[in-house]
Amino acid sequence: MTARVCVIGWPIGHSRSPLIHGHWLDRHGIDGAYTKHEVSPEELVRFLSEMQGRGFVGANVTVPHKEQVLALADHADQAAQAIGAANTLWFEDGKLHASNTDAYGFLKNLDQEAPGWDQGSKSALVLGAGGAARAVLFGLLGRAFGDIVLTNRTRARADALAGHFDSAIRVVDWENRSSHVAGRGLIVNTTSLGMTGAPPLEIDLSGADPETVVTDLVYVPLTTPLLEQAEARGLRTVDGLGMLLHQAEPGFKQWFGVRPEVTADLRQLIIDDLAET
Ligand code: ATR
Repeated sequence: MTARVCVIGWPIGHSRSPLIHGHWLDRHGIDGAYTKHEVSPEELVRFLSEMQGRGFVGANVTVPHKEQVLALADHADQAAQAIGAANTLWFEDGKLHASNTDAYGFLKNLDQEAPGWDQGSKSALVLGAGGAARAVLFGLLGRAFGDIVLTNRTRARADALAGHFDSAIRVVDWENRSSHVAGRGLIVNTTSLGMTGAPPLEIDLSGADPETVVTDLVYVPLTTPLLEQAEARGLRTVDGLGMLLHQAEPGFKQWFGVRPEVTADLRQLIIDDLAET
């Protein structure tokens, strides 16, 4: 029987998940289907309760439902609980299980594109304090980063986020961000700054160590002004598209039984699609 999976969100038109999973289903010759469904907040509880009966073995979840599905799931793994949101659902013995694969995607992208990135100073500068930052911090703590500097335009959000995790996270004022560039093995932008239509992230990377890796979660454009500056200074850079691709892996393995790979072909497929829209 065809294994059916979907991605739900509101709106959902922009989701690239059907392209990613469709590519892997074709590549592995799996009898599966991956569709997208627009589900409003009012419809969420009903959609989840009817999912299994409609033949779905699981789902991906995007904005604005990531927090709500965590509350509604029967079981949530450690990542989902720590991040406070879920993006991957599946059924086991009739129970709804939830995970969050964003931290996994973030780490795997760096592992693939900047090998050894986590072997140096174990020190990071994280910009932003939204949901994406929460996943990034969980990932970095899992790799034993012991010196994390967090900064956000709205300082109170950064303070709250740091308090949620660990004393290894030190909050500094947004205005002083450039003075915390030195000595960091990793610099991460989790804000929406640098995205097409948004202002660039202004930061002076001149104090960065030569071995610093700079990564941006923004992937439209692929090379943000932050990454441009880092490249011009000879630093290693990693764009945000890989995180989107890698976060999809664990769900695919869970639903269809095969661990898929993030290849250059898949990357190009999504780059071409982004260029069209
Ligand atoms: P996500 O869940 O994707 O992380 P979010 O919760 O909306 O999205 O967070 C967006 C992040 O971008 C926040 O850190 C936000 O800063 P505030 O908490 O001060 O809002 C940051 N951001 C957005 N626009 C910004 C701007 N013009 N200058 C600085 N930071 C900005």
